Order: sequence, then structure tokens, then C-alpha cells
Amino acid sequence: MNLHVFRHIAELRSQLDALRLQGTRIACVPTMGNLHEGHLQLIRLAKEHADVVVATIFVNRLQFGLNEDWDQYPRTFDSDCQKLDGAGCDYLFFPEETEMYPNGMDGQTRVIAPTMTDILCGASRPGHFEGVTTVVTKLFHIVEPDVAVFGLKDYQQLAIVRRMATDLCMGVEIIGAPVARDVDGLALSSRNAYITEEERPRANQLYLSLDAAKSKIAQGERDYSKLEQAAKREIEAAGFKLDYFSVRNAETLDSAVDDDKELAILGALFTSGARLIDNLTLTLD
Ligand code: PAJ
Repeated sequence: MNLHVFRHIAELRSQLDALRLQGTRIACVPTMGNLHEGHLQLIRLAKEHADVVVATIFVNRLQFGLNEDWDQYPRTFDSDCQKLDGAGCDYLFFPEETEMYPNGMDGQTRVIAPTMTDILCGASRPGHFEGVTTVVTKLFHIVEPDVAVFGLKDYQQLAIVRRMATDLCMGVEIIGAPVARDVDGLALSSRNAYITEEERPRANQLYLSLDAAKSKIAQGERDYSKLEQAAKREIEAAGFKLDYFSVRNAETLDSAVDDDKELAILGALFTSGARLIDNLTLTLD
């Protein structure tokens, strides 16, 4: 195996410092592990933009709500290493919680993005994006990457990270990677493991509803609330509870208005054991 695993910040830093002196371009791909093809596509894309790819696996408790699945979140370190190695990843940073939060989490200095964090996923997961921006900032300070790759699957997360990186002059290029999907359109996710066998054939309904809304907009429909209501009916008819379904400005995530050209349609639903999210984007001419 070529993959080198680092458990400590100091060791990773000295390795990366040496590479940087030689002019090596470094990419960072943050993850929470339980890797699937979607994550591996990020590694491959990162490899196209840098000489060395550093993946991170850290199930960041700070971004999980009290009633969420932090303790159940699947931890599959050995198979993750095999997959990363197969995808050409060079380094894996896999810290203990005490390495990432040496002073504990309560008094942890935090990074707060004031826009885009309380809407959509942020409305049902209060504090979630604060946990994300804080840990991503820490990972960027540790790895000091030239580029970092995030999936478009978590569209709102990517938009917030982009905004944070420019607001804080981080000097890291943020690259978005396309959503990896199963054959029926269901976006790959570690949380798909919580979908029951009985629900699985219908679990692509969010994708189908997003796709239907996208087609209607492309055909000229501009009554977005009508599309949102249709999607709600479809998702409920498939037996799921809708969290949100919304047509937004692709950059600001404000509700889309008539002259917006770049749109993102975002949705989230609850299965019996999971909360699934997905989105599609489109450009109007
Ligand atoms: P995680 O859910 O493990 O996702 C890690 C990265 O993989 C994210 O950038 C996510 O958007 C991307 N990803 C997941 N499923 C994907 C899919 N089907 N297609 C394309 N990309 C996909 O997102 C997180 O972890 C965390 O919030 C993190 C950024 C690591 C901070 O803790």
C-alpha cells in the first residue's frame, strides 16, 4: 500500500512542509470516512489538480446535533484505506478527537459564516454548518492545501465553504465535484446505509422530483412554488416526509427570482432512518 496514514498533526505538518519546499502542489479532500465512489471521485479530481492528495477522515462531533447519528455513524477505517490507496490518494490524516479538539469542544474557537447557514439544511440542523466551517478551517490550517475538493452533493456546504474561503482570504482554491449517483439516480451517501430494503426502490424519489422540476423550468415554468408543491406531493406519495424542496439562486441560495440565471434546486427528505439530501443545478439563457 502506498497510502501513508498520519494520526498526529505535527508529523503530517513536517511531511507536508518538506514537500512544499520542493514546490509540490497539495490537495486536501476532507471526509468523515465510510467511503464510497462519490468520495473516490473527489480524490481522482484532486489528483488532477495537485501533485499530492491528502484525504482526511474525521467524524466531527461538532457538526452533529445532540439527537443525530454521531455515535452510529459508520466507521470503516480498513476498507477506507484500501479504497483511498486504490484511488491514488497519497496521505490520509486520521486524527483522534483529542488531536483535533485539544481543549475540548465546549470552549472551542469557532468559525461562523453569517449567510446561508440558517436556511435549508441549516434550518433543520441548527449549528451544523458552524461545526463544518470550524472543522474545515482547522483542516485547512493543518494541511495548508493549494486546492480542496468538495462534492456538489452537499451543495449548501460547498457554497458556504467557498464563501468562507474568500471571506477569510484563505488562499485555497475550492473545487466542486459532480454528484455520484446510483443507477436509479439516488445520490451516493454514507447515510444510504440507513435506508431499509423495503424503502430502497422508492428512495430515488427525491432525485426524480428534482429532475422533473428541472425539466419544467427548462421548458419555461417560472412558478417555483407550484413546482415545490408538486414535489412535496410526489415525495409524500412515495411514503417519505419532506424536509424542504426549493428553487434557489445557485450562488447566494436566496429564493430564486425571475431574472436569476443560475439556479439550484435543493431538497431533503426523511426515510424511516435517514435524512437524505440532493440537488440539481441549471442555467437559464
Ligand atoms: P462526508 O459526508 O464524508 O463527505 C465528504 C465529501 O464527499 C464532501 O465534500 C461531500 O460533498 C462529498 N460527497 C459525498 N457524497 C457524494 C456524492 N454522492 N457525490 C459527490 N460527492 C460526494 O461532508 C462531509 O463529510 C463533512 O461535512 C466534512 C466536509 C468532511 C466536514 O466534516
